[in-house]
Amino acid sequence: ADVIMYRAFDWRTMKELAKHADVPVINGLDNMEHPCQIAADLMTVKEHRGRLKGLKLAWVGDGNNVCNSLLLATAMVGMDMSVATPKGYEPDAGVVKDARRLAKKNRTTITLTDDVEAAAKGADVLVTDTWVSMGEEAEKAKKETLFKDYQINKKLLSIADKKCVVLHCLPAHRGQEITDDVMDGPHSVVFDEAENRLHAQKAIMVRLLGKA
Ligand code: NVA
Repeated sequence: ADVIMYRAFDWRTMKELAKHADVPVINGLDNMEHPCQIAADLMTVKEHRGRLKGLKLAWVGDGNNVCNSLLLATAMVGMDMSVATPKGYEPDAGVVKDARRLAKKNRTTITLTDDVEAAAKGADVLVTDTWVSMGEEAEKAKKETLFKDYQINKKLLSIADKKCVVLHCLPAHRGQEITDDVMDGPHSVVFDEAENRLHAQKAIMVRLLGKA
């Protein structure tokens, strides 16, 4: 193979593969990060909002792998990010530390809170994801109760910027982390986002294979 794309449960397995591989290893998702998703997400925001720098992105829900990668990426490209999670479900502390270092360098802000409305206020981009990630099935019932207010719905959207775009990496659980009216409404760009996975991942491969 010229390149390996790997989807792992445990980020340590990802690192181990990368350490021993003599070709590039693309992280196709692990329990710590989901970088390819975020390449597509930022591409989608840029297509719809015309820029990235200076925009505010708000994350609502679980402080999971997608949230971790967004924290690092938004700080890199000059976006502010607010994260609203229930207490105890914040993004990984090590990732937050790295993201804060990048944010300081690029003069962006990172806010962690359990207040959904405070996070969403004036947001240019609203993002959520499943409350229960792969491998967490045993926690399903507990999380579904605990997270019930961590939802992107019409009311939350009305607090965000008028031109706000809504992202979700899919598959979505309608009626849980996102409502039908938002998912199918004019602010939702989730299907462009899904299409852009293809284009963003082609770009990553071209770059890694030394053709760009
Ligand atoms: N956070 C989710 C992303 C799915 C694409 C998971 O890890 O299951």
